[in-house]
Amino acid sequence: MSSERRPSFLAEHVDRLAGTHLRELLKDAARGKRLRHRLGPVLLDLSRQKLDLAALDALGAHVEATKWQAARDAMFSGEAINTSEDRPVLHTALRASGSELPSPAPRAALDEIAQTLGRIDTLVKAVELGDASAFGVAPGITDIVNIGIGGSDLGPRLAVRALTPYHVPGLRSHFLTNVDGQSAYELMHQLDPRRTLVIVVSKTFTTQETLLNGNVMRDWISRAYNGDKNAVSRHFLAVSANVAEAEKWGIPAAQVYPMWDFVGGRFSVWSAVGLSLALSIGSYNFHEFLRGAALVDDHFRSAPWSENLPVLLSLVEYWNRDVQGRGSRAVIPYADLLTDLTSYLQQLEMESLGKQVTKQGKPVEQPTSAVVWGSVGTNAQHAYFQSLHQGTDTVPLEFIGIVKPAHDLVANHEALLSNLLAQAAALALGKTFDEALAEAKSGSEEARRVLAAQRTFPGDRPSTVMLLDALTPESLGALIALYEHKVFMLGHLWGVNAFDQWGVELGKAIARQILPALEEGGSKNASSFDASTQALIEAIHERRTAQ
Ligand code: F6P
Repeated sequence: MSSERRPSFLAEHVDRLAGTHLRELLKDAARGKRLRHRLGPVLLDLSRQKLDLAALDALGAHVEATKWQAARDAMFSGEAINTSEDRPVLHTALRASGSELPSPAPRAALDEIAQTLGRIDTLVKAVELGDASAFGVAPGITDIVNIGIGGSDLGPRLAVRALTPYHVPGLRSHFLTNVDGQSAYELMHQLDPRRTLVIVVSKTFTTQETLLNGNVMRDWISRAYNGDKNAVSRHFLAVSANVAEAEKWGIPAAQVYPMWDFVGGRFSVWSAVGLSLALSIGSYNFHEFLRGAALVDDHFRSAPWSENLPVLLSLVEYWNRDVQGRGSRAVIPYADLLTDLTSYLQQLEMESLGKQVTKQGKPVEQPTSAVVWGSVGTNAQHAYFQSLHQGTDTVPLEFIGIVKPAHDLVANHEALLSNLLAQAAALALGKTFDEALAEAKSGSEEARRVLAAQRTFPGDRPSTVMLLDALTPESLGALIALYEHKVFMLGHLWGVNAFDQWGVELGKAIARQILPALEEGGSKNASSFDASTQALIEAIHERRTAQ
């Protein structure tokens, strides 16, 4: 990153640390105390980040000067901090039932939330008992299909998979998201329409992908009942802030569970958007999930910056992104159950923070969201870790591990955890040329030096380790809430609105214009588009009709 865009108050720390290898920093025993913190079931270890305690204190002084506590309190109490949409941001109120601190959220919102949670609880219990007819649901449901995209998919998808060991027996959950018809096609060949409950999740109830998939599933179920509309509607629930549209689509209002404008899609897994999760893990566990998040909410509201995990996470990200100029961060969960964490975080962080202007519409003063990417370890080690260890770019990493697994395959689990710890150590410490040379035993001096150069690891590559005691509804709730508040803090530090997403609109609008030109026998001529789009539309038409 060009040095003029670096926050100048950190310049002296950057200069001091430039010549200090992480290997040296790790020798300071005091680091652990300041950079390793426990919160309930989560241990956060930031000790392998490339900063020292003086730099940390400078970051702390910076955040304190921003009056972050007032900004945080404004969110919890329901001020309209999503300024471009003039909306409050109250996902924390969704889990206030699990908090030990009294919620400052508006009473009306808390009441609506409590009422909806009550509806979810009674529905979940009825489905578990096998008769949810009082809720408009057909008997004998064995499969749930959650149709939604973005925030209406990624949260429930992550949590349902992560909490597989908690699944209610006899009920399977599926996620239909992309508009690619292949997935719907395969699902319809796999499931029994008379035993399937479809939950159409869309805050706006206008999302093209979700509605098209909904139509496909509705036709499929309708065929199973020879078009009997009443029978079909018993296979559908909706979650939406747009009850009128859901009703128009064919889902009775009593089967629509509310979403609210005060909850953004990517922050909504705690609401009825998590209905498929609640059905999958049962009511008690769903409340444990909320309680885990509430634990982090209470901590975020009360801990000083130096012990506040979301604040520390945001300061480390600020340091890596804005001070060290790192353009991406790899998230590597050492847990197959957390396979969907990276894509969940991509939306949470990149849709929230990928902004170039401040809330006041002025260009930001520093780079914002890093690219978030990654996949599960150890698989990732055998794919792209070569580049993370010896490539020319430094990519900060985040390792997430689980101390106690939900299975008894001890040898596998110990191997898994040892790999996690080894990668974090290897990335930080590296291997010097001299160490590599000492290992190269045979050949000429020249040949040994050539080999040693290739077997040298620069190290000095920062990483964070998060260890969950076990992957439980509570710890998963806590983990997600930590990331949510980290995002809030970065939005605050960067001065951007973390709760809107105008950047997704242009592509959607152009897709709407292109559709009529792409349809077979389409009503619109491709010539109104730019030359590249036009050529591709013509190629599609040409190839579609070719023998
Ligand atoms: O296009 C982006 C987006 O608006 C996300 O912010 C949202 O989570 C997703 O689409 C789905 O929106 P909806 O829940 O309204 O269908």
